[in-house]
This record gives sequence, C-alpha cells and structure tokens, in this order.
Amino acid sequence: MSGRLVGKSALITGGSRGIGKAIAVAFCREGCSVFLIGRDEKRLKETADEISNIEEVDVGWYGCDVTKPEAVKNMVEAAESWKPIDILVNNAGIHKGASFLDYSAEDFREVLETNVYGVFYVTQELLKRIIKKRPARVINLASTAGKWGSRNQSAYNASKHAVVGLTRCLALELAPHNILVNAICPWVVDTDMATDFVETHAAALGKTKTELKDQMNASVPLGRLIRVEEVAGLAVYLASDEASYINGQSWTVDGGYTMV
Ligand SMILES: NC(=O)c1ccc[n+]([C@@H]2O[C@H](COP(=O)([O-])OP(=O)(O)OC[C@H]3O[C@@H](n4cnc5c(N)ncnc54)[C@H](OP(=O)(O)O)[C@@H]3O)[C@@H](O)[C@H]2O)c1
Repeated sequence: MSGRLVGKSALITGGSRGIGKAIAVAFCREGCSVFLIGRDEKRLKETADEISNIEEVDVGWYGCDVTKPEAVKNMVEAAESWKPIDILVNNAGIHKGASFLDYSAEDFREVLETNVYGVFYVTQELLKRIIKKRPARVINLASTAGKWGSRNQSAYNASKHAVVGLTRCLALELAPHNILVNAICPWVVDTDMATDFVETHAAALGKTKTELKDQMNASVPLGRLIRVEEVAGLAVYLASDEASYINGQSWTVDGGYTMV
C-alpha cells in the first residue's frame, strides 16, 4: 500500500464490475474504504467479498438503481451511516446503441436516466448532506463520447456531453466548499460494455465482431483497448491530495487517439 487515500471513504456507483470494480480495488490498495453500488446484489456481494482482503480497509455494498430517487436517498443514508463519504465516483452507466432514426424513445430515455439523472440524483443527495461539513471529491465517468460525435450511439454521446457539462458547472458551484469535481473521459475500455458496444456496432456496420475489433485496435496509436487499471490510476490521482488544485477538468484517456 502506498497510502495516498489512507483514512478516506469512497462511494462508487457501478462498483460491482468493469471500471468501477477496478477503481474500488485501486482505492483499497491506497488505504481507502469503499462502498459499492449496483443493481445486482449477488454480483455486488461477490465483488465485495473478493476485494475485502486486499488491505485493512472496509468494503461495504448496497443494492440500488441510481435512476430511482427514493432508492438513491435510502442508499446515500446507508452509505453515510456506514462511514462519512469523502469521495464520490459516479461510474454507473449504460450504453444502448442504434442509428438515430431507429432509437426507441424508451432506450434514449433509459440511457439519459442512468447516465445523467443517475449522476444528478446521487450527487445532489450526497452533497446536501456533506456540503459545509467537510471537503470532498467528485469523479464522474464521462467518455470521449462526451467530447465528440459518434455514429449509432447519439443517446450515449448526448448523455456523456451532459456529464462533462455537469462536471464544469458543479466544479464552479462547489469550489468555495473545497469540493472538487472532475471527469474521466476514456475511449473504449475492455469491459462488458465494450463487448456490447462491439456487438451493436458490428451489426450496424455490416462487419463481423472480429473485423470491428481489429479496426478499433488499428485506429488508436497504442493498438489496443484500454485496460480498466489504466482508468483506475487516474481516479486515484484525482481523489488524492496531489490533485488539490485540479477542478472542472474532463481528462481524456485515449492512448493518443486525439491530440487537441
Ligand atoms: N467500457 C468503455 O468502453 C467505457 C468508455 C468510456 C466511458 N465508460 C463509462 O465508464 C462507466 C463504467 O463503464 P464499464 O465499462 O465499467 O461498464 P460495465 O462493465 O457495463 O459496468 C457497469 C456498472 O454500472 C452498474 N449499473 C448500470 N446501471 C445501473 C443503475 N441503473 N443503477 C446502479 N448501477 C448501475 C452495473 O451494475 P448492475 O448492472 O448490477 O446495476 C455495473 O456495476 C460508465 O459510466 C461508462 O459509460 C466506459
């Protein structure tokens, strides 16, 4: 343990798998207790059991759908009774792709409700409790899809542009309370979401999944997808004392895909 987050506690939405789980593991290794949120309680418990012996930190979990305001209220209450939360990682998110004309209103709404309203409900509920009481960090998982346009996933890109915008606005409003808000914007990370993404896009582009994966790998200078640990490392930095003057930024993690 290098101890960059010793004594801290973090609430991590979508902490049961993928990027959220990797952030939970990285935080534990730095001495931070973690409270994991997701809908699938069996999966949450498995993850909590798996990571609970990494370091001498506490690992809690709570089943909650972040799109349900009442459930979020109860969840935040449970988290704050568990330990005072210093770091919020808004990571829960979904991807549903379709060409714009084919999107159902239901799918479009579900993406925005999870990726935008989920961030709104959890962040507001937690901040109402901690503002003026203690400093904090908020880290939002946005995406490169929050910085550019993409074909066949306009709901997802709209949601992630909203997260980037929210990050900037909250950073302005909360800085006087020493609550710093930043976002992480990865390109494609090798998780369940990337697998679903390849399936949707391969079908839409008339390619096989292997052809699309090869094309994706070839399109980025590093020639491969991002590993979850490569996102988690940045989250540790943004949560740490070293990032005490970093605010309102949306950090691109794309292996040099874009350089602007
Ligand atoms: N993978 C990528 O290529 C990529 C790239 C850029 C940004 N991101 C962003 O990074 C974040 C994590 O992505 P990932 O790839 O790790 O996704 P993932 O592997 O699909 O995991 C998603 C996590 O979010 C939880 N979740 C989803 N909907 C939820 C809801 N309504 N309420 C509570 N929890 C919910 C899931 O648990 P349950 O299903 O049990 O609820 C799971 O723990 C997302 O915000 C995503 O948009 C991903």
